[in-house]
Amino acid sequence: MIKKVTVKTIQKYKDNSEKFSVLTAYDYSTAKYLDEAGIDIVLIGDSLAMVALGYETTHSVGVEEMSIFTKAVAKGVERAMVVTDMPFLSYHTDIASAVKNCGQMIKSGADAVKIEGFSDYIMGVIRRLVDTGIPVMGHLGFTPQFLHTLGGYKIQGKTQEAADEILRQAKSLEQAGVFSIVLEMVPQESARYITENLNVPTISCGAGKYCDAQVLVSDDVFGKYSDFKPKFARKYGDMKSLIYTCAKQFNDDVKSGRFPSEEEVF
Ligand code: KIV
Repeated sequence: MIKKVTVKTIQKYKDNSEKFSVLTAYDYSTAKYLDEAGIDIVLIGDSLAMVALGYETTHSVGVEEMSIFTKAVAKGVERAMVVTDMPFLSYHTDIASAVKNCGQMIKSGADAVKIEGFSDYIMGVIRRLVDTGIPVMGHLGFTPQFLHTLGGYKIQGKTQEAADEILRQAKSLEQAGVFSIVLEMVPQESARYITENLNVPTISCGAGKYCDAQVLVSDDVFGKYSDFKPKFARKYGDMKSLIYTCAKQFNDDVKSGRFPSEEEVF
């Protein structure tokens, strides 16, 4: 029987100094293959706004869309933990609607939710979610939903003072009950300092090798999304060329009459 990855498994990884892996997925088949490959957490990231829906930023995606993508991904996964990123404005206005919107993701098949940022209000949201039985992954450093207040895609935690501030925020999130924290675009040494001073695991998104886990957007890993490639992403394949080649051959075959063949008709 397949042993499902849970918040306990994730904490055990940290306690045993074992690294774990996180990739995003937005559809059933991709989620299935990531799960079969042994990825520990499959994240329905709000990055889907850009890579799956073609929007400019993550701000445009909403609760209904995230819920649909969560249903598709959850259907494909047996072992991995399924985490849904809560979109912009879905948890910011009041705690009751935060619980309702996060609860909708659990009903759609997620095992946990991810929320960005830190404030007294966010801590209240996390506490209430955990009390409700919804595990929460935090997200600090560069937080894309705060793009406009951060003044662009900027590295966070560059000085000792700034790293101390992220650590202070991370410790508060930990106290509020998060089971892990994504650190995005934080210098490697700052992320190391933060990671070594926390009990919950950190997940690096461009925060170097000393975090407890690594996350990337799967479309970057597959070489599918080509509008922009972050410095910290590694491309393991060239899906863009593969899709182009397959589509071109199909187009040529249809137009030349080579498709369908005798074996492909009834
Ligand atoms: O939206 C996303 O895909 C993310 C991860 C890359 C951390 O937040």
